[in-house]
Amino acid sequence: MPFRVLSNATLATMAGTDIGLVPDGAVVLEGGRIAWVGRFADLPDIWSDAPRDDLGGRLVTPAPIDAHTHLVHAGNRAGEFEMRLEGASYEQIARAGGGILSTVAATRAASEDNLVAAALPLLDALLAEGVSTVEIKSGYGLDLETEIRMLRAARSLGNLRPVRVRTTFLGAHACPPEYAGRPDAYIDDICIPTLRAAHAAGLVDAVDGFCEKIAFDAGQITRLFDAARALGLPVKLHAEQLSHSGGAALAARYGALSADHLEFATDADASALATAGTVAMLLPGAYYTLRETQAPPVAAFRARSVPMALATDCNPGSSPLASLLLTMNMGCTLFGLTPVEALRGVTVNAARALGLGDCGRIAPGLRADLAVWNVGSAAELVWRIGFNPLHARYFEGEPC
Ligand code: NIG
Ligand code: FE
Repeated sequence: MPFRVLSNATLATMAGTDIGLVPDGAVVLEGGRIAWVGRFADLPDIWSDAPRDDLGGRLVTPAPIDAHTHLVHAGNRAGEFEMRLEGASYEQIARAGGGILSTVAATRAASEDNLVAAALPLLDALLAEGVSTVEIKSGYGLDLETEIRMLRAARSLGNLRPVRVRTTFLGAHACPPEYAGRPDAYIDDICIPTLRAAHAAGLVDAVDGFCEKIAFDAGQITRLFDAARALGLPVKLHAEQLSHSGGAALAARYGALSADHLEFATDADASALATAGTVAMLLPGAYYTLRETQAPPVAAFRARSVPMALATDCNPGSSPLASLLLTMNMGCTLFGLTPVEALRGVTVNAARALGLGDCGRIAPGLRADLAVWNVGSAAELVWRIGFNPLHARYFEGEPC
C-alpha cells in the first residue's frame, strides 16, 4: 500500500480536550488511514523517501463533519421566509399547515432522482469547505414509501461524491395531514412500522424525533425509542428548541448520541446529558433564522463537561444554511463558544454525535479525512464571514 507524507503542517489533532496542537508536524497516510502523526523532526526513517506534500506551514484539521442535516428534500420555503419577515412565527406557520408539512407535500411528489438532484448542490457547498461526513435525515415523507425514498436518495449521495453519509430515520418529525389530531395513531401505525421496514432494508444508522408542542410529546417519542432500542439502533432527539418539553431528559434516559437545539434546556438537563455522555448538538443556523432570543445554556454544558457539537441543520425552513464555516462563526458570535470549541464541535464531538470512533481526530489508525486551510489558527479559521480558506481536502487519504 503506497504511503503519502504531509509535511510542514500546523496540526490541530483534537487530541485530549483542547486543540491538540503539533507545530512543524507531519502526518503519514496509508490506505485511507493515518499511519503516523507527530513532529516532522521525529518522522521515522522508513517514510523518509515516501511521496511528500509540503503544506507550507498551513493549519491541518480533521475534515469537518456535518452531523445534523435535512439535506434531502424537495421544494423551497422562500415564501415562509418572507412571511416571517412580516412577523409570522415558525410555530404559527406550522400550525397553519405550512412549515414542515409544505416540504412533506413537495417531497412526496418528488422522485428519488429529483431528490438527489436537489440535494447535490447543497452537498457540494459543504464539500467545498472540506466536509468529509454528512448526516442526512428522513422526515419529509411521513409515509413508508417516501421515508424510504428519502433514505435511499441520501445513501446514493454517498456514492456520487467522495463523502461518508450516515442516515437517520426521522419519521417522528411532524404528524402528516392524513393523521391530523391523531399523533398516537401515526406513531404506532405508520412511524414505527416504517422504521422497522427501513431498518430491514439496511437504510438506518440512527433514529431521531422532534419533541415539541407542534410535533410529538415525550410519551410518543418514548414508544419510538423503545422500538429503536429493540432494533439495536442508537437514538438522538430534536429537543427543547422552541419550549421546554422534556426532550433532553428523555434523550439522556435512552443514552442518546445527541440532543439537538437545546435553547430551552435547563441546568438539570445539562447534568442529565453529562451523566449519559450525550452530545449537546447546537444549531445556531436555526436560532439565527428564527430570530430566537434564548441561547442554549453553553455555560452549564461547559461547567459539566458536556461535549458540544455544531451542525448546519441544513433544511428548507428553520435553517437554510449550507456552510459549516459560517455555522462555526455563528456558534462563537451567537452562542459564545470559543474558536477551539467551535472546531471541536465540527470534528471530534461531531464524530461522537454520530457514534463514529474512527474519524474526527488526527491520530494513528483513524480515517485519513483531513482539511488543509490557508490560515494559521482556529481563530483565523472561524473569524471571517462568507470566506472559504480551504486549501486542500483529503478523503480517506486521497486529495479530492
Ligand atoms: O431541525 N426542528 C425541527 N426540524 C427542523 C426543521 C425542519 C423544517 O423546518 O423543515 C429543525 O430545525
Ligand atoms: Fe433538524
